[in-house]
Amino acid sequence: MSGLVVIGAQWGDEGKGKITDFLAEGADVVVRYQGGNNAGHTVEVLDKKYKLHLIPSGILYDTKLCVIGNGVVIDPKAFFDELSYLEKEGVKVSEDKLIVSDRAHIIMPYHKLIDRLSEQMRGNKDIGTTGKGIGPCYTDKHERTGIRVCDLLNKETLKEKLEINIAAKNRIIKEVYGGEELNFDEVYKEYVEYGERLRPFVKDTSVVLYDAIKSGKKVLFEGAQGTLLDIDYGTYPYVTSSHPISGGVCVGAGIGPTMITNAIGVCKAYTTRVGKGPFPTELFDEMGDYIREKGFEYGTTTGRARRCGWLDLVILKYAVRISGLTSLAITKLDTLAGIEKIKVCVGYELDGKVIDYFPASLEDLERCKPIYKEFEGWDNSVEGAKTFDDLHENAKKYLRFIEEYTGTRVSIVSVGPNRSQTMVINKF
Ligand code: GDP
Ligand code: IMO
Ligand code: MG
Repeated sequence: MSGLVVIGAQWGDEGKGKITDFLAEGADVVVRYQGGNNAGHTVEVLDKKYKLHLIPSGILYDTKLCVIGNGVVIDPKAFFDELSYLEKEGVKVSEDKLIVSDRAHIIMPYHKLIDRLSEQMRGNKDIGTTGKGIGPCYTDKHERTGIRVCDLLNKETLKEKLEINIAAKNRIIKEVYGGEELNFDEVYKEYVEYGERLRPFVKDTSVVLYDAIKSGKKVLFEGAQGTLLDIDYGTYPYVTSSHPISGGVCVGAGIGPTMITNAIGVCKAYTTRVGKGPFPTELFDEMGDYIREKGFEYGTTTGRARRCGWLDLVILKYAVRISGLTSLAITKLDTLAGIEKIKVCVGYELDGKVIDYFPASLEDLERCKPIYKEFEGWDNSVEGAKTFDDLHENAKKYLRFIEEYTGTRVSIVSVGPNRSQTMVINKF
């Protein structure tokens, strides 16, 4: 069986898009299985930079089949805007190259509105969502009132479901949040049109994936967000509403666990986070600013400045366990170049005791003080490294320590944003 999973091992933005694009060369199919256009995956090939949100990062190749699985939530407007963007960038997208699950849930205008209104109502206890309607859409899915891709293709079903939803959501929008009600006719007309445009892309993608894997094709599953944003295993409630961990693949793509062969965890050589919530190794000083500027740590989706901090190995080890990661891809080694002493968190001190696990309670986590091990830094020469041997001796030590602490080999090292600045140092 040949299913390879790419997982974000931190709070997202680890470079999953870049690593997926790199690995896609050796794959036949690339699949998104959760999240939606809250994701922002930047891929650089030669002198061009592509920003992807909903479309799998395999799309830049002509010969790969890209799949949006049932676990993804789809904003049809965002989907078609992204297709237009890709076309403008010279990337051809057709129904032979991109298919969408008939079971995926649709992000409706009321989801986006409620996402924003509920964040406003939370005041300074807001989550800091991307405002794309992700949480409210998954809420409806689990409340069993959602509208799916297959419903968009049937005008009568859509009408029936939308009437019930608009009536209910308008009451919430008006009476709970004091917002402006939506007009049924406008939404219906717009979404009937999206249904017609979406029709050629729609398939039972689970069948396609099963057949592909059975016939020996290589399938790559591209995670969005990261382990610490997982609805169960992340820093709840400061999380997204899906399962970015490898366990999410089976449900979100409709395949069995026996079809997954390996899982690669993508991890920056330091840590970043967008939005609110605890972050034990966060740097509030000039070092944090230095990393942000050197690594250009600004969100692809919302443009927000990312919070920056040292690498947290407690988190990485947690990600290894939760997703059964078989190897790691370490990105942005070049960003740390020039820093004299680099710190790595190897445990937390909680109420006078040393712990090396990630606590469930946010109140406990907020009291955790990171315990650091210090490493000697390296210079900018890492940017040009093509093999492990080319790396600065101190960078090699850093990578070896990550392997030792997590008990997991590093398979890929990334030393720059470009596809060409990627090296395989071990089997993945
Ligand atoms: P994703 O959401 O996990 O796909 O990550 P993003 O694309 O949101 O953020 C990662 C950013 O780092 C992007 O701008 C990438 O182009 C960039 N990037 C990825 N790997 C490297 C690397 O090794 N070095 C540098 N300097 N940038 C990288
Ligand atoms: P990629 O795939 C980083 C964060 C938001 C917020 C929380 C909930 O690029 O790694 P949501 O809109 O999902 O309800 O927001 O999750 N978040 C991300 N942070 N990278 C992402 O995706 C993210 N997707 C959501 O900032 O804190
Ligand atoms: Mg991102």
